Amino acid sequence: TIMDQLFETKQVELQLAKYLGIEKCLIAKGDSSQQTKVVSSFGEMVNESLATRLPDGKNVIAVMGGTTMAAVAEEIGQLETEKRHNIFVPARGGIGETVSVQANSVSAVMAIRSQGEYRSLFVPEQLSSFAYETLLQEPSIKEVLTLINQANCVIHGIGRALHMAARRKMSESEILMLKQHNAVAESFGYFFNEKGEIIHKIPRIGLQLKDIQNIPYVFAIAGGKDKAKAIHAYMKNAPKQTWLITDEAAANEILKGV
Ligand code: G3H
Repeated sequence: TIMDQLFETKQVELQLAKYLGIEKCLIAKGDSSQQTKVVSSFGEMVNESLATRLPDGKNVIAVMGGTTMAAVAEEIGQLETEKRHNIFVPARGGIGETVSVQANSVSAVMAIRSQGEYRSLFVPEQLSSFAYETLLQEPSIKEVLTLINQANCVIHGIGRALHMAARRKMSESEILMLKQHNAVAESFGYFFNEKGEIIHKIPRIGLQLKDIQNIPYVFAIAGGKDKAKAIHAYMKNAPKQTWLITDEAAANEILKGV
């Protein structure tokens, strides 16, 4: 029956959260790498979680990019209330994606759909370290960075390392280095091996992985059987307060052999 299925899903959610050492898992039916409607379910779950969890007052929500995050953004609904105001910002700038899935775009879509505000961070993709340092002194950039550092909520995707490196057109030598260090996961512009150790970091402004540790509301959104290894690896490094929104395909693969 449906009740039995719901109960079973709840049990797997508890088991997975415990296994990964994080606060909570929410599991959508199916495999998001095969069915787009599963990604829409992620979006509904994120929307519901934000609606119920975000406190009154001003919230600063830092978001990352990626195809999952872009699809999640499309499911966001009204989150403003008389007492609650949300400002969406990109968590980090310029880590190399096409415009439609960049953090700036995801942040704007979420803000518009939820009737909140947003601020963009304009950092060119290819920048010398000199230009980078100069840019950091720009008042308009400083203002957004200050806001990002006040984030009390972070929403991000998790990717497979080599897939992300290729999609973001990283150099051959960087890709070779990732292979030599057995990179399996990527999130926030950080690359991780199977043990969850950071083996490479794209130097970009905005939130760093250590900053996430102190942020009260953290949501990681990733599913699909092929992402199981990446999710598992990243979670070894994830802050304990993380909520993982995933699907049955990834959950079953991670829990195989437990
Ligand atoms: O950092 C992780 C990636 O943004 C995930 O991208 O959702 O397109 O797989 P994706």
